[in-house]
Amino acid sequence: MIADSDFGDVDIEREIVEDAGFELLAAQCKNEDEVIERGRDVDGVLTQYARVGSRAIDAFTRCRVIARYGTGVDIVDVDAATRRGIQVTNAPNDWCAEEVADHAVALWLAAARKICAYDQATRQGTWQWQSGQPIWRLRGQVFGLLSFGAIAQLVAERARAFGVEVWAHDPFLDESELRSRHVRPVSFDQLVEGSDHLVIQAPLTPGTRHAFDRTTLRRMKPSAILINTARGPIVEDTALYQALTEGWIAGAALDDLEEEPAKQRDWRPHNPLFSLPNVIVTPHAAYYSEQAVTAVRRIAAEEAVRVLTGQNARSPVNEVPARL
Ligand SMILES: NC(=O)c1ccc[n+]([C@@H]2O[C@H](COP(=O)([O-])OP(=O)(O)OC[C@H]3O[C@@H](n4cnc5c(N)ncnc54)[C@H](O)[C@@H]3O)[C@@H](O)[C@H]2O)c1
Repeated sequence: MIADSDFGDVDIEREIVEDAGFELLAAQCKNEDEVIERGRDVDGVLTQYARVGSRAIDAFTRCRVIARYGTGVDIVDVDAATRRGIQVTNAPNDWCAEEVADHAVALWLAAARKICAYDQATRQGTWQWQSGQPIWRLRGQVFGLLSFGAIAQLVAERARAFGVEVWAHDPFLDESELRSRHVRPVSFDQLVEGSDHLVIQAPLTPGTRHAFDRTTLRRMKPSAILINTARGPIVEDTALYQALTEGWIAGAALDDLEEEPAKQRDWRPHNPLFSLPNVIVTPHAAYYSEQAVTAVRRIAAEEAVRVLTGQNARSPVNEVPARL
């Protein structure tokens, strides 16, 4: 079963699954109850945003694999799956790492160079450089990264071309790893207080959820720009709204919102952030390119088929005993 997907059709998955002798059920579940209702008796689940938590996993009667379309597995209760001997797989992060790094830099430059503000102004007949004022020279400024994982490393590589000084905070990496790539390792506090531009590229974990709340945002530079190309809930939106309206920071560019619209049915843009001129929002599109989407669909379907035909997953997230 495809629990949910927003790729428009299921042709790629159908070909892979049916060629292996299975049937494909394509659903559009928006919550765990719908996953249970549709997926109780399926052999494997592919999921994009639909939560497959412990309730669903306990309700499954024969499921052997949960394949996530993508890298993050925060929507799957991996411990519950392991307990029930269900293999969880993801897509190794190189399927979209270049795209996300490009998008992070595009959001950064658009915010720093006020591209969206200028575009709106010129369309309304205002042909003045002042409609973007103030803009600061990038060269020499501090470009901070929250995490120095695969994607953040590609962002750092790109950012360096603009003459910025790259700092990163990653509590799980050796500082020498950062230094060897000409990046200054800093504490979370130094990152927050010293960055002129701060890109969030850490996974969503209990430790990063709401890491950017009022207390953190209050400590940033008033000229700072915050970019989030990770998961929405790392930033507390009401706090960000206050930070942007009261001048705690200068601007934000977000590829996701705290409410995670992609996980909702009939979502509407009621978030007050949409009323602000110093915010840019893209619809969790950083990963997107035609190549990336095709790759991730193939990877998820092939992983499911591999597990269901007794082969080892190529990108297992958990360890489960082999089945006879
Ligand atoms: N917007 C998109 O379309 C999109 C696409 C892919 C990935 N992402 C997001 O980007 C994240 C990172 O992806 P990746 O491929 O670089 O992952 P990765 O596993 O290569 O790197 C993650 C890094 O985060 C670090 N980290 C963990 N907790 C941290 C913390 N509290 N503070 C700072 N660093 C921390 C880890 O040590 C690791 O180095 C993903 O988890 C996902 O949420 C977004």
